[in-house]
Amino acid sequence: PAASLLELGGVKMAKDDVVRDDPTNNVPDSIFSKLGMQLHRRDHHPIGILKNAIYNYFDTTYSGKFDKFDNLFPINFDDVLVPEDHVSRSYNDTYYVDSQTVLRCHTSAHQAELLRKGHTHFLVTGDVYRRDSIDSTHYPVFHQMEGFRVFTPDDWEPSGMDGTSYAAEDLKKCLEGLARHLFGSVEMRWIDTYFPFTDPSFELEIYFQEKWLEVLGCGVTEQEILKRSGKTNNVAWAFGLGLERLAMVLFDIPDIRLFWSSDERFTSQFSKGQLGVKFKPFSKFPPCYKDMSFWINDYFTENNLCEIVRGVAGDLVEEVQLIDNFTNKKGMTSHCYRIAYRSMERSLTDDEINELQWNVREQVQNKLNNNSNE
Ligand code: PHE
Repeated sequence: PAASLLELGGVKMAKDDVVRDDPTNNVPDSIFSKLGMQLHRRDHHPIGILKNAIYNYFDTTYSGKFDKFDNLFPINFDDVLVPEDHVSRSYNDTYYVDSQTVLRCHTSAHQAELLRKGHTHFLVTGDVYRRDSIDSTHYPVFHQMEGFRVFTPDDWEPSGMDGTSYAAEDLKKCLEGLARHLFGSVEMRWIDTYFPFTDPSFELEIYFQEKWLEVLGCGVTEQEILKRSGKTNNVAWAFGLGLERLAMVLFDIPDIRLFWSSDERFTSQFSKGQLGVKFKPFSKFPPCYKDMSFWINDYFTENNLCEIVRGVAGDLVEEVQLIDNFTNKKGMTSHCYRIAYRSMERSLTDDEINELQWNVREQVQNKLNNNSNE
């Protein structure tokens, strides 16, 4: 059971401090109860093992120069130049505690505070929160590690390069080294992309099991971010990587819900310092599929539907998939969703799933039939 008093990084918060009937609060109890679980701080958990392996790479490559943070309070509002209308600010994609604060949706949210405190080389690991669709690689809580490095003119001037090119090159070298440290020799490629807080911005993809897999976002930090924390003559790089994404590949973990399992058949397979031990799946229990279709209104979003399904079924829901989409002559649109229920620990009975499904139906009718967030 979740603690009703949360204490993280010196900040205390009672669960009741989060005003439950604040209309701007869209954090369900199932999410609130994940606060403070901090899988990344468990040395025998795949997420913690991976975090430690990345720490090792930075410690040896930069002789301990990177300061490490893995216990920063997860509720804040980022100040990394995210525009007012960016998706990450919408109620549909982000959990709002109240109108001013959110559950962090990325570890980049800590860049500015750490810069202001004078840190120039740092790693931040933490749980991050996003409202999202449901399948084997998406879960509303996951873990990221942020890296940040500040350069001074003494660093780039001897190279004859400008600061930005120098930082971009150093960033790519650093991350290619990290990918080799974790995966051994592996094929990689860089993709140009956009983030509000870096320019230029890149994604790193690695080739794994016949697919290109996006593993991180990064780039050269926008000058404005450095300037706001008093750094006017510097250049910096930043990266943010998803720990589940990497851990699923490194440990062969087929479903993201397993990270939250306390089933010994899962937890006993991992131990401290053992990166990349291949997970042996215990028997896969049969799925139970339920279809439902309904007319959607203008406010319908798949994230809101998924939130309802998760609220009812918790980790028993494996996937919510749109299987039919139809618009009639009057312009009304109906969606048919197939919900896959499956426990990773036991067989489900038809009766219990029917009950969940009725509950889902009722809530879809009551809650999605208007324009509120609830
Ligand atoms: N915060 C970005 C994300 O969550 C990743 C990122 C971090 C990109 C740092 C650039 C620099 O997708």
